[in-house]
Amino acid sequence: MLKKKPSYVMAILGATGAVGKETLEILEERKFPLASLRLFASKRSAGELMTCQGKEWKVEELTPESSFAGVDFALISATDAISREYGQRLGADGIVVIDDSGVFRMESDVPLVVPEINAHALSTVRRGIVSIPNCTTTPLVMALKPLQDAVGVKRVVVTTFQSVSGTGAAAMDELISQTKDLMAFRDVKTEVYPYQIAFNLLPHIGSFTDGGDCSEEIKIAKEARKILETPSLRITATTVRVPVLRCHSEAINVELERPLNANEARAALAAMPGVIVYDDPSRKLYPMPLDATGKDEVYVGRIREDESITNGLNLWVVSDNLRKGAALNAVQIAECLVNV
Ligand SMILES: NC(=O)c1ccc[n+]([C@@H]2O[C@H](COP(=O)([O-])OP(=O)(O)OC[C@H]3O[C@@H](n4cnc5c(N)ncnc54)[C@H](OP(=O)(O)O)[C@@H]3O)[C@@H](O)[C@H]2O)c1
Repeated sequence: MLKKKPSYVMAILGATGAVGKETLEILEERKFPLASLRLFASKRSAGELMTCQGKEWKVEELTPESSFAGVDFALISATDAISREYGQRLGADGIVVIDDSGVFRMESDVPLVVPEINAHALSTVRRGIVSIPNCTTTPLVMALKPLQDAVGVKRVVVTTFQSVSGTGAAAMDELISQTKDLMAFRDVKTEVYPYQIAFNLLPHIGSFTDGGDCSEEIKIAKEARKILETPSLRITATTVRVPVLRCHSEAINVELERPLNANEARAALAAMPGVIVYDDPSRKLYPMPLDATGKDEVYVGRIREDESITNGLNLWVVSDNLRKGAALNAVQIAECLVNV
């Protein structure tokens, strides 16, 4: 679908957001072969200069009249409305769209890709669109895949502890300003979340269904089944927003098809590309958001057998939602497509 070239023109829609800024850093770190960059955001950011690979690039206002002539890749990390409006259109124009939103993920002709797990799905990019998973699904499937391959996974119960950067740059500002206000005995303002997030947590991510699930909980289950290619996997999630700036953590209980003890699980996880086992209770070593911030890998610790069920295992997983949960995964997909 993509003509092999020495370097590529990339457009980033949402370049000034939390994911967009991280994408620029990752393109630089990984020396992605860029011929040039086109950065798009809303009117309020137009004209800003952003740096990548030693050059300054001017942010353009995204409008229906914006021209994408000559663009090879469009990475969309803006809003659902922008993904809906531009994803389809740019894909149809022959541009490879890598979309961060939930808009296309479950469509049968759109691959939903974590390259370490299902890069083979990239051979079926029919509409020009590839989706990346939700930032909690990616670390979950990275931890489940080696267990699935070793002995099979029967049922998963996951509880997430999701940082505010998962909601975007405005939510990070809200946590910081609420914390400052509280420390100065001032009233807090709540704009992004329905309640104060500083010194609190909210068992609510996305919208509620009639049955009482959060949309985020449903996304995790559906996306995990699609990526792992296990349509009948039983999986249930509870998603919680916590007052942490970066990195999502997950407590995962897995019921396996066949026995796998904790040491065998450690070995299987350690052999998974992109996973680091960080697990030594005797030295109080377990992954925390501050350890994983700015890191590419998914960290797994607190690996232990769950005696309350047959073939049960407990895991604690931490991963930087702006990196592997979003920008890094998108850039890795682009790398797979150009075979860097
Ligand atoms: N944050 C995560 O951990 C994460 C993980 C996986 C996927 N995602 C997905 O990635 C996308 C971006 O998330 P984010 O966290 O980076 O959000 P964000 O920090 O709020 O950034 C949003 C970006 O979209 C731009 N934008 C908003 N409205 C626009 C408009 N009308 N026209 C043009 N540009 C507009 C913003 O530009 P201005 O700066 O000019 O307003 C900004 O660059 C979302 O679809 C999200 O679901 C996020």
